[in-house]
Amino acid sequence: STATVTLNTGASIPQLGLGTWRSTDEEAYNAVLHALKSGYRHIDSAAIYKNEGPVGKAIRDSGVPRDQIFVTTKLWGTQHRDPKFALELSLKRLGLDYVDLYLIHWPVAFNAEGFTTDEQFLSVPEKADGNRDLDWNQQDPEAGWNFKKTWELVQDLPATGLTRAVGVSNFSVNNLKALEAAGLKTPSVNQVELHPLLPQDELIAYAKEKGIIIEAYSPLGSQDSPLFSDEILKSIAESNGVSVAQVLINWGLKRGYVVLPKSVHTTRVEDNFKVFDLKEEDFEKVSQLVKTIGEKRLIVPNWAPFPTFE
Ligand code: A2P
Repeated sequence: STATVTLNTGASIPQLGLGTWRSTDEEAYNAVLHALKSGYRHIDSAAIYKNEGPVGKAIRDSGVPRDQIFVTTKLWGTQHRDPKFALELSLKRLGLDYVDLYLIHWPVAFNAEGFTTDEQFLSVPEKADGNRDLDWNQQDPEAGWNFKKTWELVQDLPATGLTRAVGVSNFSVNNLKALEAAGLKTPSVNQVELHPLLPQDELIAYAKEKGIIIEAYSPLGSQDSPLFSDEILKSIAESNGVSVAQVLINWGLKRGYVVLPKSVHTTRVEDNFKVFDLKEEDFEKVSQLVKTIGEKRLIVPNWAPFPTFE
């Protein structure tokens, strides 16, 4: 899909982008290069993915003019106290002068006192475990830090020219409301886990009201997704002559937000870019999956050292 949506800055963002989490250096380089050759113009990365180097190299090697590619990276929890410095390090790794979007990766600041190296910055400190049960507004209480303070710094980054827009990721409605209540700027984007088993209806409605663009990560249900073996999805895919991945991606596109499928396989990268006409009746069937399959599937909390949603 070459469709775009408009951010609250006025900039346009391609509705379909390539995800790069859990890609090795070589995989990330090849996937990004292939995606750009296949028509993608939106690449989503993050410092903690530890592959900004190859992602940036592929962007530079692609031959596609920089101003035609929308590049996102994210601030990791070890650097909430100095997002500008973190962004400078990301740009250095990417080999780029600016990104189009810089996101707070999680609304959680780690205590990372004394950290100076990339290895330290791009880690989940032991201390993170201590954050597990903390109130979202009371993280790292000794240092008196929280995501509102982080956003106070991040909201001003576009003025540096190092990023064109700023936003957040993994923020709940309550987290977003806390920014608003503090009189801070409205994020351009909130990137969250979003697929038929976690449809995020409430968050989507809130974001729409506030002009925040929602981005879907793990739109296919992430690694070892149960969605690929679902009979309903398989039959929709078969009757339309498309893949289950395409059904899932087109369901997201039809709902109007940004969709960020990840793949390191060239044929899948191409496949995932293809739009087809998802009929209303099939769209509804996908929307009902959360009821038929049952429980919400939260992928990230198995890995993250903190709760995802209230
Ligand atoms: P791979 O990178 O080996 O292709 P998500 O975007 O929800 O995080 O899901 C990504 C997962 O789905 C990855 O494990 C990815 O594996 C796999 N995947 C991506 N595209 C497809 C596709 N078209 N068909 C099957 N699996 C896919």
